Amino acid sequence: MIKHCLFPAAGYGTRFLPATKSMPKEMMPVVNKPLIEYGVDEAIQAGMNSMAIVTGRGKNSLMDHFDKNYELEHQINGTNKETLLDDIRELIDGANFTYIRQREMKGLGHAILTGKELVGDNPFAVVLADDLCVNEDQGVLAQMVGLYKQFRCTIVAVEEVPADETHKYGVIAGEHLSDDLIRVTDMVEKPEPGTAPSNLAIIGRYILTPDIFEHIENTTPGKGGEIQITDAILKQADEGCVIAYKFKGKRFDCGSVDGYIEATNYCYQNLYLQDSQVELKKAPTEKQDG
Ligand code: UTP
Repeated sequence: MIKHCLFPAAGYGTRFLPATKSMPKEMMPVVNKPLIEYGVDEAIQAGMNSMAIVTGRGKNSLMDHFDKNYELEHQINGTNKETLLDDIRELIDGANFTYIRQREMKGLGHAILTGKELVGDNPFAVVLADDLCVNEDQGVLAQMVGLYKQFRCTIVAVEEVPADETHKYGVIAGEHLSDDLIRVTDMVEKPEPGTAPSNLAIIGRYILTPDIFEHIENTTPGKGGEIQITDAILKQADEGCVIAYKFKGKRFDCGSVDGYIEATNYCYQNLYLQDSQVELKKAPTEKQDG
């Protein structure tokens, strides 16, 4: 039902300098896979097949990653390293990748508006790849697609955060429909310490209805001169319905050094080592294989 997933990936990634000076934050590897590939896996698991990536200057490696590399493939053809490319090959064959460049970094809202041409007049998902989400069963996007079918409106994923961290997030308030569903009535972007309307912070997973574009177009720059997506979503909440969902699973803020290290340890222990194919997938150490 929802086919498009938008990946705003044009940000500078200043929290991770100098690593992100010339390398896109979204290409930073967690174990042996770049962050954005985890996001694409999650979108495919949720039934999406159209990956729309908003890029910026210095982000060409994102496009190269989701393309064939004939020279490399030729080089490892017939060796036991070939299996290391199985997942990405399957992913490239199973989805369609489109790109658009955000020329000026005017914030997440502006990045999403830049992607309008790629997603058209359809409901679509948004993944901020630096928020890595894992769940044993259903991924977070798949959980949200289920809710979209029920509510047919914008859905934002939220997580409880400590009170002294609310100033880093968009924070929601609203009417509880159940333990994990809240009908949003208020939303504040990076509230001053002590002023947050709750401890429920929006993380990097959204399902947006296409009227969001009109609201973004009418949004004036907010905090830091950026066009904030929270302002546009709050307008949707005022006029209709926005649901905040306390998702099942774990989220790692890989845009911060601590979150990135935590994610790496978690994925190594729980995904990489657990993989039944692990012996095949582990990078061969012996040179004779090519
Ligand atoms: P962040 O707030 O994490 O900013 O953006 P950032 O530049 O990536 O990282 P820091 O804070 O400087 O370390 C949230 C998401 O929105 C995208 C980013 O790429 C990230 O996925 N974004 C942000 C854009 O695509 N364009 C923008 O103008 C701003």
